Amino acid sequence: MKILVTGGAGFIGSAVIRYLINETEHSVVNVDKLTYAGNLASLGQSAESPRYAFERLDIADADGLNATFERHRPDAVMHLAAESHVDRSIHGPADFIHTNLVGTGVLLEAARRYFEALPAARRAAFRFHHVSTDEVYGDLDGPEGLFTEETPYAPSSPYSASKAGSDHLVRAWHRTYGLPVLVTNCSNNYGPFHFPEKLIPLIILNARAGRPLPVYGDGGQVRDWLYVEDHARALVRVLEAGEVGETYNIGGHNEHRNLEVVERICALLEELAPTHPEGVARYADLITYVTDRPGHDRRYAIDAEKIERELGWRPQESFDSGLRKTVAWYLNNDDWIAGVTSGAYREWTERQYGAPPGSGTP
Ligand code: NAD
Ligand code: TYD
Repeated sequence: MKILVTGGAGFIGSAVIRYLINETEHSVVNVDKLTYAGNLASLGQSAESPRYAFERLDIADADGLNATFERHRPDAVMHLAAESHVDRSIHGPADFIHTNLVGTGVLLEAARRYFEALPAARRAAFRFHHVSTDEVYGDLDGPEGLFTEETPYAPSSPYSASKAGSDHLVRAWHRTYGLPVLVTNCSNNYGPFHFPEKLIPLIILNARAGRPLPVYGDGGQVRDWLYVEDHARALVRVLEAGEVGETYNIGGHNEHRNLEVVERICALLEELAPTHPEGVARYADLITYVTDRPGHDRRYAIDAEKIERELGWRPQESFDSGLRKTVAWYLNNDDWIAGVTSGAYREWTERQYGAPPGSGTP
């Protein structure tokens, strides 16, 4: 297949592209606006493959998308482009509405127009895979219960509300226009190339720099962590074998309280980076409780039984093995980290491609 991947310069999109190029025969067209979260350095050698192409584009640009579909004539779309950080969505929801809602709507229309003009055999094989989050289900009260594919939507933040809206659009394009869609809702990812505004990379980098480790509220919120490469494999499995119109929940069976995650990172650093920053006796001494996030969801947990039963997918990493790999990666990839923390990758992007297209407002 030739797969048009949106958001392929992001954390999960780059893992999907590395997997597609390194582990399959598929070709990739990466459509990405290169916002602050998009970093082509995360693609490594896979960007040099003859099976890889890149188009810098805002998914809300209809003309640009129509031209891209015509130029590359893909067999499938994997839609990952999004604004993805809850805290940013609280400070500035407009970009979330622009990309996650308007952008998904424009992409659906471009895909439909292209799909409807395909010859019958290619139309039958075409897929539009929408990549979403478990945050659309809201949060779980207490330690019992799991999100299933039937859990009603109850998003809490501007981020999760915009993703919930995008899921509804995708389902409507299936029901109303017959677009052959697949939807996946996944729990929190972690792993290499994760932008250090999210909990796990932020804690690793702050600890190494001797900065405070901010824990929101009481640190008792629970997330269900999945190693990003397990997610990438699940997504490709769903694309290749999932049933059209179906939703699959993806999760790692790895529920942990935030404070526990922070403490485990500190313990791994004690072992893997025993030389502390000046003035720090133990990494855990840097833990600092800060004001809670408004509307903070208490607990997420995924029931991944359907994808396991129907498609035979299971995570390969445990939280222990995945977290160890992640901490080791951040200790051994100074160039990527320096590029991200200094903003050098942004300067390179602007030199190479100019300022981001579009104003970012709806
Ligand atoms: P990310 O923020 O790391 O990357 C997003 C990518 O999308 C970036 O490369 C960015 O440049 C691009 N992008 C943003 N706006 C765009 C636009 N208007 N047009 C084109 N490209 C644009 O996000 P991520 O963590 O890799 O998440 C990818 C997808 O997976 C998102 O849809 C997210 O909702 C979903 N998801 C994420 C998680 C998680 O834990 N990170 C969990 C479940 C689902
Ligand atoms: P995050 O990585 O932003 O993912 P999400 O909000 O999508 O789950 O945050 C994970 C959890 O960690 C969430 O409960 C908020 C909390 N958190 C902190 O306690 N401190 C921090 O500095 C950050 C970024 C997050």
